[in-house]
Amino acid sequence: MSQDAAKRKAAEAALKYLVPGEVLGVGTGSTVNHFIDLLAGRRADVPAAVSSSEASTVRLKAAGIPVVDLNSAGTLSIYVDGADESDPHLRLIKGGGGALTREKIVAAASRRFVCIADESKLVPVLGKFPLPVETIPMARSYVARELTKLGGIPRLREGFTTDNGNVILDVGGLSITDPVKLETEINQLAGVVCVGLFARRPADVLILGAPAGVRELKAV
Ligand code: A5P
Repeated sequence: MSQDAAKRKAAEAALKYLVPGEVLGVGTGSTVNHFIDLLAGRRADVPAAVSSSEASTVRLKAAGIPVVDLNSAGTLSIYVDGADESDPHLRLIKGGGGALTREKIVAAASRRFVCIADESKLVPVLGKFPLPVETIPMARSYVARELTKLGGIPRLREGFTTDNGNVILDVGGLSITDPVKLETEINQLAGVVCVGLFARRPADVLILGAPAGVRELKAV
């Protein structure tokens, strides 16, 4: 089974978490793109969605799902999104697609976060995937120096601007044994908009697509 087929399986399995008649939150990325395509067949159950990126907004509208502003939607019953890495406690690295800030906002505003991924995303310890940090452009060099002090090797994502007009530093060289602590520390740096560690608010359910089928992990 290809990685893409595994992502599709995870997306299909997430459909059972839809709450018919309620607005849902939708993330960003290739796995979520499968989920959005599947939503086209569930339009009767999905009155609208809150989107975490311009790219997902375009795809949702093409699937016939109206997109509404989070400010008018209130607390969402469910948020479905992918991840770049998950540890066994469902703490995540996200932001490979650059949408981490809006993703973190929608995840925070949702009662249940269902994460969908292929099984390669499950790791014992976070950090092999470079940690994305969205940064105000004028703070780029300062934040990079501070991230180096924390043990990382930051690299500017060349030629990329986020939906919020900021830059991304991708931080390699980390072995993140205490994700909550590192998330809190990076959040404190002046000029950081958002760090792609989702540990203070991890996923509630992780659906992993694999050749043997789909496997679900739940937060304990
Ligand atoms: C987007 O910014 C990311 O957080 C994605 O959710 C993450 O990169 C997963 O992407 P794929 O589903 O494409 O692997």
